[in-house]
Amino acid sequence: MAIVLAIETSCDETAVAIVNNRQVESSIIASQIPVHQQYGGVVPEVASRQHLETINYAIAQAMEQAKLSWGEIDGIAATCAPGLVGALLVGLTAAKTLAILHKKPFLGVHHLEGHIYATYLSEPSLEPPFLSLLVSGGHTSLIYVKECGIYETLGETRDDAAGEAFDKVARLLKLGYPGGPVIDKLAQQGDPIAFTLPEGKVSLPGGGYHRYDGSFSGLKTAVLRLVQQFEKDGKEIPVADVAASFQQTVARSLTKRAIACALDYGLNTIAVGGGVAANSGLRKILQAAAAEHNLRVLFPPMKFCTDNAAMIGCAAAEHLSLGHTSPITLGVESRLALTQVMKLYQSAG
Ligand code: KG4
Ligand code: ZN
Repeated sequence: MAIVLAIETSCDETAVAIVNNRQVESSIIASQIPVHQQYGGVVPEVASRQHLETINYAIAQAMEQAKLSWGEIDGIAATCAPGLVGALLVGLTAAKTLAILHKKPFLGVHHLEGHIYATYLSEPSLEPPFLSLLVSGGHTSLIYVKECGIYETLGETRDDAAGEAFDKVARLLKLGYPGGPVIDKLAQQGDPIAFTLPEGKVSLPGGGYHRYDGSFSGLKTAVLRLVQQFEKDGKEIPVADVAASFQQTVARSLTKRAIACALDYGLNTIAVGGGVAANSGLRKILQAAAAEHNLRVLFPPMKFCTDNAAMIGCAAAEHLSLGHTSPITLGVESRLALTQVMKLYQSAG
């Protein structure tokens, strides 16, 4: 059992949470989206500055909401990789300072391990092994979750991440940033079979297709060609139909690969994590397909699909319970494979 204060600043949310194992005591998420919207995407320097301005206030708010004193906190954690280096540094430095000041163990957390742990917040009884479908703005992978800190990547995207595809398609449809939520909303008014789009299969050298790897760059280009054709013909772009067809294609492609992977590896639970786990089309299609194969699909609570600190605290609480802590000299990394998670920790004793 461990109560952890966790900080997440890897991209464009300044988030602080206090988590008691798999239960959230408080969660503050200060989104920078309105600041970055005018640039059409996240500007790293602006993100770092915003984190700096917000972090102390977010920490104070998280403590106040949880109604806990520093004496009741067992450890302090922050996302240390992967992400924007300047942004990560703000959260990591704040966490280290608090750990030294209050004489608490310090833990660096891998952002994607956090997204895996978000599912525990809606399903505290979940235990490995299970398959994690990680679908965020920067990553799209199928992960075999073996135990806390031990992961194997079974499949991934060869190019764009699922969230990135949503963002790029939204940009070319002039829908603004971030694209996922806007496309999701528009898709509900559109016809998902209005256009046939490529699902992004990856060919194997000896023939056939990769069962778990996929690609989204061809899909994005197909949408671009479609839009250009409408413009060339002087016709109005049926934005809702394009959004619905695109969303359905992404959802089907992810579903097929996740189901194949779960069945091949004999894993009967698929836990979805990352911003795209909030997508209504993916939730519907994956749930229906899983039911056909007697598989269980779990999603995090909606507010913990996109970046938050509660998921980081949940992962840190488990590591701390297992005696894992990080050296205070730990640095940030813009890239770090999920298979390297245990390099962040030293075991007690
Ligand atoms: O996990 P996340 O907050 O940040 C990363 O770790 O990348 O994911 C952000 C991504 C963005 O690309 C955003 O467009 C996408 O998640 N997203 C969605 C939805 N909500 C957020 N994509 C599809 N449907 C949604 N409802
Ligand atoms: Zn994320």
